[in-house]
Amino acid sequence: MSVTIIVGSQWGDEGKGKITDLLSRDMDMVVRYQGGNNAGHTVVIKDKTFKLHLIPSGIFYANVLCVIGNGVVVDPAVLIQEIETLKTQGFPVDNLRISSQAHVIFPYHRYMDQAQEKKREAGRIGTTCRGIGPCYVDKFNRRGIRISDLYNEKVLKEKLAWNIEEKSFLLENFYKFEKKIDLDQLINEYLGYAHGIKKYVVEESTTLVDEAVKKNKNILLEGAQGTMLDVDQGTFPFVTSSNPVAGGACIGAGIGPKAIDEVIGVVKAYVTRVGSGPFPTEITGKLGEELREKGGEYGATTGRPRRCGWFDAVVMRHATKINSLTQLAVTKLDVLDDLEKIQICVAYEYKGKKIQDFPTDIYRLEECKPVYEEVSGWQEDTTKVKDYKDLPKKAQKYLKKLSDLAGARISLVSVGAERGQIIRI
Ligand code: IMP
Repeated sequence: MSVTIIVGSQWGDEGKGKITDLLSRDMDMVVRYQGGNNAGHTVVIKDKTFKLHLIPSGIFYANVLCVIGNGVVVDPAVLIQEIETLKTQGFPVDNLRISSQAHVIFPYHRYMDQAQEKKREAGRIGTTCRGIGPCYVDKFNRRGIRISDLYNEKVLKEKLAWNIEEKSFLLENFYKFEKKIDLDQLINEYLGYAHGIKKYVVEESTTLVDEAVKKNKNILLEGAQGTMLDVDQGTFPFVTSSNPVAGGACIGAGIGPKAIDEVIGVVKAYVTRVGSGPFPTEITGKLGEELREKGGEYGATTGRPRRCGWFDAVVMRHATKINSLTQLAVTKLDVLDDLEKIQICVAYEYKGKKIQDFPTDIYRLEECKPVYEEVSGWQEDTTKVKDYKDLPKKAQKYLKKLSDLAGARISLVSVGAERGQIIRI
C-alpha cells in the first residue's frame, strides 16, 4: 500500500501516460495534480490509441477512482468532449471525480494566451495557446473562477463580469486583439457545462484523497509536462505555468509530503522538447529528423514537431535532485535500436570549466556546451523483449550508464507504445 508520484524528468512527453496506465492496474486511485489540456497523455491498448488531455490515465480501469485534483486547470468543453469520446469507445467513465477547487479555463484565457504570444514575437514561448498560463495567473491573482463557482450563478456572474471587463480592456487596448466577449452568452454556455459535469464534481477532493491514504490504499499522483517545464525549477521563462515537479503533487492533490512513498521519474532514452527555449543536446539535421520520425515525435495536443536531442545527464541529475526520485521508468528505448553510435551528455562546459549542476539561469545555460561520451549502439530490435536479461548487452550497458548518471535505479523500461511492450526490472 503506497503513495507514488509519477513525474516527467525532462521537458514533458516522456511517456507518463503509458507508465500511469501500466501502474494503474494495481492502484485504487489516480490523481492528476497540475496542468490542463496543454498535456496529451497517450495510452495504446492493442490497436487503439487514446490521447488524454485532462482525465487521469488510470481511467481505463473501472475500479480505479480517477481524480482531477485541485491543482489542475479545467477547460470544461474539452473535458466533456473527452468523457464523451471515452464513452463511445466503451469506457463508462463512472470512476471520474473532479475537485471543486480546480480552476476553470474560459475563452478569454485562450485569447490572452494567443494575444500574448503574438505580441511577444521573437521572444514567444511557444505555448499550446490553450489558455493555461492566463488561467493560472488569475488563480494566483485571486481572480480565478473555480469549479464550485459554476454552481453559484450569482457569484459566477459577479466574477465573470469583472474578468471580462479586465480582459476586454487589455485585449482591445494593449494587445490589439479583436475578440468580443459576451457575459450572458458565456454564463449560459458555462452553466451548460456545469450541468454536464455535475455528477463527477466532489466538494472536498482532498478529503477523498485523505480517506484513501488513511485506508492504506494504493494511490498514484500523475503529473503532466516535466521538471524542465516547471515554473520554478525549469528553463524559465520557457516553461509552463504550474509545478509539474514532485512537490507540486502535494499541492495539486492536497496531500502532505510525509505521505509520499515513491517518486518515479519518467525519462525518455533520448530527449525531446516542444516549443521555444534552450535545449543543450538538441540534434539538428538529418539525424534529428530520423529520430523524430522513428519516435513519432509530434505533439499529442498541438501536433507540432518535437525537437529531438541526446540524453542529458545534467538535466537528469537536476530532476533526480528536485523530485527526490526513487525510481526511473525509461521509455522509447526501441527508438535508438538502429543507431550505430549514441551520444550521452555527461556534463556541460561553461567558460572552460566542466559543470555537473544544471544552470537554471537560461543566459548562463546558453553559454554551456554539452560534454559527450560516445557509446556503441546495439543495432538490434528490442520491441519484443519482455525480460531485462534478453536485452542486447549494449542496451543493458546504456541503461546502466543512464541509471548511474541519474543517481536512481531503473524499475521499468518501455520498448514500444503498446501496453505489453514493457520490461520490469
Ligand atoms: P503552456 O503550458 O501551453 O503555457 O506552454 C508553455 C510551454 O510548455 C511551451 O513550450 C509548451 O510547448 C510546453 N508544454 C506544455 N504542455 C506540454 C506537454 O504536455 N508536453 C510538452 N510540452 C508542453
